[in-house]
Amino acid sequence: MATKPIRIGLVGYGFMGRTHSNAYSQLAHFFDTDHYPVRQAVCGRDEEKVKAFAEKWGFESYETDWRELVKRDDIDAIDICTPNNSHAEIALECIKHGKMILCEKPLALNGEQGEAMVKAVEESGLPNLVWYNYRFLPAVTHAKNIVDAGELGRVFHYRANFLQDWTISEELPQGGAGLWRLDAKEAGSGVTGDLLAHCIDTARWINGNIVSVSAMTETFIKERVHTETGEKQEVTIDDAAAFLARFENGSLAIFESTRYARGHKALYTFEINGEDKSLFWDLHDLNRLSYFDHGVPSDRRGWSSIHCSDGDQPYAGNWWVPGLCLGYEHSFTHALYEFFKDLDDPQKEKRYPDFRDALGTQYVCDAVLESAKTKQWVDVKQS
Ligand SMILES: NC(=O)c1ccc[n+]([C@@H]2O[C@H](COP(=O)([O-])OP(=O)(O)OC[C@H]3O[C@@H](n4cnc5c(N)ncnc54)[C@H](O)[C@@H]3O)[C@@H](O)[C@H]2O)c1
Repeated sequence: MATKPIRIGLVGYGFMGRTHSNAYSQLAHFFDTDHYPVRQAVCGRDEEKVKAFAEKWGFESYETDWRELVKRDDIDAIDICTPNNSHAEIALECIKHGKMILCEKPLALNGEQGEAMVKAVEESGLPNLVWYNYRFLPAVTHAKNIVDAGELGRVFHYRANFLQDWTISEELPQGGAGLWRLDAKEAGSGVTGDLLAHCIDTARWINGNIVSVSAMTETFIKERVHTETGEKQEVTIDDAAAFLARFENGSLAIFESTRYARGHKALYTFEINGEDKSLFWDLHDLNRLSYFDHGVPSDRRGWSSIHCSDGDQPYAGNWWVPGLCLGYEHSFTHALYEFFKDLDDPQKEKRYPDFRDALGTQYVCDAVLESAKTKQWVDVKQS
């Protein structure tokens, strides 16, 4: 029975503001934790819109300035759902005011900013999470558990893609609401921090540290009208990025991400090939984990498809009955569950990414961008 309220202050009510609000409303219905989230306040700069959001999603109050929210005595945790260039500033202010932090990914604009966040949060001892949510889909967690059990034997290869096609038009402007991802000042980078960061987090979680990378990036459309100035301005994000990598365990990897793969809306896939087994996962069929076992007699051997919905699959038993599907939104509820269940036990090995873990992903992103610029292999700093 949940008896300990955690009063949440949410900053930003866009796409992630909605997914997190949904997770706050679902958690206590489906998972047993000592702590439970209270939707205490939401912050947005437009009063009419933030008030409407608060009413729709059950927040008890609202603010129009995140600094006021962070100061409030009736808030225990701040959830940062704003564009990437604001994560560090808001997080550092939260730490000053003793608030635990749930921060959207990527942690920061770059490793240097991330280091300051890690230092401050670790000195404060405040619990902290970064929302790399894909880890918490049952099939992805199942893949992690299979690899951790040593079932793959020696791992040789890891490959991941995250493909979209929404920026192909030259008419699409950059900057501002909905389009901040195209402006490097707000986003830090293009697909590297936005999409590859997810692939990198999953890869590091399942297959360990990435030690070196060799990358290429491209900006296909060099100028776009900026929504703030109305003028054409240089585009400085990476529209596409691909990189080769070496893992600490000796395996090799190839990663690709783009917003120019016509026909793909959000095709995130990964595959891992070991001596004894291989695994493959696809976001478009997210309940399934494809599994190849070389130990099966050759005349029966082949790829099988595990529907990760049975009660003995990660998280699945907390929802409906075997065979029924979960979706993208459940990954956020599961992330929240992992964070909440360990709140009273800081020594416990965490299943969720904290700031330090997310800094490791940030370092890989930095190395990718540096390698693309220098056209050299780059060693990845370790967190
Ligand atoms: N985990 C994931 O799968 C995932 C998916 C999408 C986005 N993200 C991350 O979440 C963050 C937000 O992305 P999004 O897609 O929700 O963006 P969005 O544009 O939909 O929403 C951003 C929100 O922040 C608000 N905002 C901006 N500056 C603000 C300020 N100073 N004070 C208060 N509110 C402010 C905007 O008004 C908007 O409501 C980004 O860091 C992004 O990388 C993560």
